[in-house]
Amino acid sequence: MLLTQNSKLKTENSLGLYVHTIGCQMNEYDSLRVLRLLAARGYVPVDDIAQADVVFLNTCSVRGKAEQKVHSFLGRLRSLKESKPHLKIIAGGCVAQQLGQKLLDKFDHLDMVIGTRAVNSIGQLLQRVQESGGRLACVADEENGGHQTDGLQIFPEGSVTAPVTIMQGCNNYCAYCIVPYVRGRERSRPSGEILEEIRLLEASGVREVLLLGQNVNSYGKGTGEAVTFVDLLRRIGTETGIARIRFTTSHPKDLTDELMDCFAEMNSLCKHLHLPVQAGSDRILARMNRGYTVSAYIEKIRRLRRICPEIALTSDVIVGFPGETEEDFQMTMKLLGEVQFDNLFSFCYSDRPNTRAAKFSDKVDRQTSARRLNELQGFQADITMGKYIAEAGSIREVLVEGPSRAANGQMSGRTSQNRIVNFDAPSSSKGKILSIKIAFAHTHSLMGEVHEINYELQMNKLPSI
Ligand code: SAH
Ligand code: SF4
Ligand code: F3S
Repeated sequence: MLLTQNSKLKTENSLGLYVHTIGCQMNEYDSLRVLRLLAARGYVPVDDIAQADVVFLNTCSVRGKAEQKVHSFLGRLRSLKESKPHLKIIAGGCVAQQLGQKLLDKFDHLDMVIGTRAVNSIGQLLQRVQESGGRLACVADEENGGHQTDGLQIFPEGSVTAPVTIMQGCNNYCAYCIVPYVRGRERSRPSGEILEEIRLLEASGVREVLLLGQNVNSYGKGTGEAVTFVDLLRRIGTETGIARIRFTTSHPKDLTDELMDCFAEMNSLCKHLHLPVQAGSDRILARMNRGYTVSAYIEKIRRLRRICPEIALTSDVIVGFPGETEEDFQMTMKLLGEVQFDNLFSFCYSDRPNTRAAKFSDKVDRQTSARRLNELQGFQADITMGKYIAEAGSIREVLVEGPSRAANGQMSGRTSQNRIVNFDAPSSSKGKILSIKIAFAHTHSLMGEVHEINYELQMNKLPSI
């Protein structure tokens, strides 16, 4: 989105920057950081890779498939580099952090590898590469504990929603997960800095922030402040004028009653929680080092729904974790049937370097994992569709984010529950919260119509719809 807006600014003489992001919202946030840092050096984002003078590929290594995507993207860039020798190709993100020099050695058309902990230095490093014509890999762990404490993220005009990283890294060491190895130990940003960033975003027109961290519930440790995640949320609610707050990701073991209560008590907190469960068998959860049982998880879901009935719940599940029997798998299916998630992200387990699970000997074969995933996804697809269909007839508050992707003149936004809705409205409604009556459901979006022009719109005297 930001790229499209800015690409109009590219002129014959300016330098084009093409950014491709794989992976989670942490990486999207870092890509925005790269855009900002390189914009200060005259680089203009472009949508068309052919116009690029620099390509920045932000990589993910969380699952084998994500890493394969990195290798195939880099492979495809070889011919571009041959036809355009001055092009500089940079790989950043978690694969870069993990492989460093090895990635540079593997792809001889790659000019620079920059780890997640060094991304702040991208400007200087790129200049060094430009001037010397050489190649370099940098994965240095900066003294300040990472790159997220360097001040404020300022967004270009026009963004209605924005991510705000509140913490980096993770200390949980789930047995399957590479994140603690590539993102390092948990580090929280000072609360004052986060609040100031949100106020600046608000002043530039942002209405909704997404607070990011691998385990936001443990926010605050090590900041030297007596501040918890709940304190932070409540302060954002009272000390800024931001209309909507979301956060991700929550770890079930750290989801406290106080945090759940925020969903019932804070108007600005969106009614959606992503709470990865990973498996429905206590034995597998223990092997995964998740620190909760199925019944403890379900009890938390029950409490959430009791205090906030309109909350939407989504989750992550891994099938084929080492040692997962058919019986364990059926327990996961049973859990899905019982909880009825609004949406689910599900994956086949894949070995990741350095993780404890990679050393487990009782691996599930690929075919069995694939069959289980297929079965599980079919089962969940019906639940997800049922949830979408049930939205028909309801009236939802929708934050208008911009034109619909279908480019059919409609506008698009999301409900508090994080469902996409498309509807007819003037483009001037962007950034407003409208009451939308949901007419019907597609597979992953809803169609609606403006139910009533809300107070906010009337106050701004927008043209009638
Ligand atoms: N911090 C978040 C998400 C981490 S990665 C959390 O704690 O849940 C996102 C998802 O990728 C995980 O929830 C998990 O379902 C999946 N995942 C992580 N490592 C994996 C692996 N080795 N194989 C398959 N799926 C994996
Ligand atoms: Fe990975 Fe577990 Fe940390 Fe999530 S909580 S990032 S799954 S180690
Ligand atoms: Fe991937 Fe790194 Fe995020 S491994 S999921 S991009 S933290």
